[in-house]
Amino acid sequence: MKSSTTCVLAVAALASAHPHATANPKVLVSRQFTTQDPYANWPTYDQLPLDTSYPSKAAWGGSDDVQGALNHITNATILAAREEIKLGRAINLNMDLNAFTTPINPARKPLNHLFQPAEGYTDDVVVLNTQVSTQYDGLRHFPYSTDGNITTYQWYNDLIDNFDQVVGPTPTEVLGIQQAAQKGIAGRGVLLDFAGWAQSQNITYDAFTGYGINTTALDAVATWQGLPANWSLPGDILLIRTGWAKAYLNLTTYNQEILPWNPDLGSVGMNCSDDSLNWLWEKKLALVGADNPAFESLPMDKTLGGVPRSLHQVFIGGWGQSIVEFLDLETLAEELHQLGRSTFFLTIQNLNIKSGIASPPNALAIL
Ligand SMILES: *[C@@H]1O[C@H](CO)[C@@H](O)[C@H](O)[C@H]1NC(C)=O
Ligand SMILES: *[C@@H]1O[C@H](CO)[C@@H](O)[C@H](O)[C@H]1NC(C)=O
Ligand SMILES: *[C@@H]1O[C@H](CO)[C@@H](O)[C@H](O)[C@H]1NC(C)=O
Ligand SMILES: *[C@@H]1O[C@H](CO)[C@@H](O)[C@H](O)[C@H]1NC(C)=O
Ligand SMILES: *[C@@H]1O[C@H](CO)[C@@H](O)[C@H](O)[C@H]1NC(C)=O
Ligand SMILES: *[C@@H]1O[C@H](CO)[C@@H](O)[C@H](O)[C@H]1NC(C)=O
Ligand SMILES: *[C@@H]1O[C@H](CO)[C@@H](O)[C@H](O)[C@H]1NC(C)=O
Repeated sequence: MKSSTTCVLAVAALASAHPHATANPKVLVSRQFTTQDPYANWPTYDQLPLDTSYPSKAAWGGSDDVQGALNHITNATILAAREEIKLGRAINLNMDLNAFTTPINPARKPLNHLFQPAEGYTDDVVVLNTQVSTQYDGLRHFPYSTDGNITTYQWYNDLIDNFDQVVGPTPTEVLGIQQAAQKGIAGRGVLLDFAGWAQSQNITYDAFTGYGINTTALDAVATWQGLPANWSLPGDILLIRTGWAKAYLNLTTYNQEILPWNPDLGSVGMNCSDDSLNWLWEKKLALVGADNPAFESLPMDKTLGGVPRSLHQVFIGGWGQSIVEFLDLETLAEELHQLGRSTFFLTIQNLNIKSGIASPPNALAIL
């Protein structure tokens, strides 16, 4: 009974375009995951944001929700994904933590790995910027901002008031990576092998430019892989193989070292547009990932509704949807092609560290 009351409130909130939402931004109930039908009040992409005072396409308003898109993962979606385990073949999806001796963003310090031997045992010490190899962007990583000025930052669900709460001496814990670690991430992964499809179509592109992958291309990839038009299920984790990692690992060491310093460096990735966002939102994904630096194409030079925006801002700041980057999808893609499959069981276990920003995902596919 309680849940159906919530549904009514949600519909009323949707209809009323609440004029004073900034005074109480938690009033709107945009997403309810507790009812028999979690998607009964699911807003369409065009209905976002649910209040005009919220930033572009934000899906804010669900009480003090901190899990965002991970709410799509339920006991039922995990149980259903058991069907994906057919062979018991487990595949690591993480690159070497030290794969980038010069990180792609050269302002980031590379991994520092020390050994600490003692009598009878040995330890090691890892000092890690969590953004230098395969990484899970947590919800503290990327706020909305029109110009990079901290006074314009807006985090998911408006749960952080100012930058000191993120990096100050006594940071708050809300939206920290520990919340994603404790949620438990498992379910059905879907690989769209854009790079494999492009090769089959004789489409060539330079992975180190801002080549945009749009939904027309992704639909063609899905068809090429033999997926039906309605291939997605709520709670799916979508991985896109862009070909970036393969191209990077194919560079000479010298070219790997100088690449990050190129001021015009770009990256192939999903194109930031309303079309891309609409396509993703309607699929109710728990998470997205790719084998490239940012999932989306770089540089982040697009606009939404005339305002400078990126997929990062809308995903992380707007939907509470994390992004996994620099995944190693080579073996997975090869095995799936051989099996004529596109889906698999996937688990991710982030670092359980309070107020954390990001984490190695420790991603594992099981076929
Ligand atoms: C679903 O799983 C959570 C733990 O992730 C557990 O607390 C809850 O009891 C489970 N619900 C059902 C219906 O099994
Ligand atoms: C950021 O914005 C504030 C408020 O508009 C302004 O006072 C400040 O100078 C800006 N900072 C930078 C680095 O532009
Ligand atoms: C791709 O190129 C090869 C070699 O030129 C050709 O045989 C094949 O038909 C081409 N495929 C497509 C989809 O154009
Ligand atoms: C999608 O991208 C392809 C290039 O990959 C381009 O030819 C096409 O025009 C784009 N479609 C839309 C709708 O933007
Ligand atoms: C997807 O569409 C097919 C028909 O093309 C239908 O048989 C199937 O039930 C649909 N699956 C879902 C999950 O809606
Ligand atoms: C790998 O490097 C060779 C030599 O530079 C180049 O011809 C080839 O296109 C590269 N392959 C990929 C996938 O980037
Ligand atoms: C990418 O999206 C922009 C709108 O943000 C659009 O102008 C451009 O044509 C799109 N590119 C592709 C390849 O679809």
